[in-house]
Amino acid sequence: MSLPPLVSATRQFFKDTYGVPPVIMGQAPGRLNICGEHTDYNGGLALPMAIDRHAVVAVKPADSGRIRAYAMAFDEQFEWLPGHAPEGLPPWANYIDGAVLQFRDDFGLPGGIDIVVNSDLSIGSGLGSSAAFGVSIALALQILSPRKIKLAELPTYCQQMENSYMMVETGVLDQTIALFARKNYALRIDFTSGTRALEPLRCKNCQFIVMESTEPRQLATSGYNERVAWCQSALIKSRKLLGDQLKNLSDISRGQLPQLKAGLNPHELSMVRHVVTENERVDICARALVKGDMVTLGSALNAAHASMRDDLEASTERLDYLVETAQSQVGCLGARLVGGGFGGSCFALLERDRVESFISAMSDSYKKKFATELPIYPVTSDDAASVWRVYD
Ligand code: GLA
Repeated sequence: MSLPPLVSATRQFFKDTYGVPPVIMGQAPGRLNICGEHTDYNGGLALPMAIDRHAVVAVKPADSGRIRAYAMAFDEQFEWLPGHAPEGLPPWANYIDGAVLQFRDDFGLPGGIDIVVNSDLSIGSGLGSSAAFGVSIALALQILSPRKIKLAELPTYCQQMENSYMMVETGVLDQTIALFARKNYALRIDFTSGTRALEPLRCKNCQFIVMESTEPRQLATSGYNERVAWCQSALIKSRKLLGDQLKNLSDISRGQLPQLKAGLNPHELSMVRHVVTENERVDICARALVKGDMVTLGSALNAAHASMRDDLEASTERLDYLVETAQSQVGCLGARLVGGGFGGSCFALLERDRVESFISAMSDSYKKKFATELPIYPVTSDDAASVWRVYD
């Protein structure tokens, strides 16, 4: 679904459910990270673009002081007093509870809210659905609060909320792209300096295609937090070997890798190698995009997948199958898993006139191998999150 019908459906649903139209609506896009995985929490580089799939919220302040929340994707509805959520509330509702309490404490959000959340991003598909959900809610609550947060501080604020209420130590990649994306551009982010640069997407006659493995990416219970812990211990040990001036793993150069062998365990060494080489690949991809050099871009994507599979050990049988099958198709310039790994999606960079034959070959092959349909679709770049008042 494109954004306008998603917004209309959410607005109508709000009216049907609560009897009155919403006062505020917000949207935030999902993302396709062209390159730079697990670099954000290591002070590295990434090159994401927002995609034309979104989370949407419709909100109205409630004098009752209570929260009434409906998630259209799950067809679930709950009502509770902020801070007194009933036992067993699902993560999406728990997150709303946390966000309301936090906006109350930090920005003076009065009362409660009626809220409907909706999305055409598959949940847990590795396309930044959680961040899109969190950012769209934060933007709406922000408008209802008398005190405001600076836009530049919002990605970290949303990341911290997600970390507290979703029980996962993610970085700030997904929130940053959701808030600073622009259609027809990728965003080169440097997580040490905090600088962001829009890079024109010169994907000459090429198309990005997403393929969902349909194994939900369970970040909290997966190896994601474990990878974060390996990086933390790798940094402590690397400082002993290379000096206290190391701010993060991205300060380590390729030439210094051999010096780390003595002091780091194999997991930590692989993490460092991934971060160092992934940062290099981000720059290769950014330069290739600017030049419209799709062949170089494609081979950097293939190398990035190999690193996620071998060094990070974050791939799965299904993701590897999809990536390898995609890479062997005529017209496919590169493919890799996207996001944190451990399930979720991958994407291919494809010559545009091969899209139809690629989709049909991939679907047939996946069905034969895993006896299940493959959600596969082209994505295009999109603009950043936004929030607006509803006049009805
Ligand atoms: C998830 C996290 C991000 C980032 C990616 C991997 O999407 O939310 O912060 O770490 O994984 O690049």
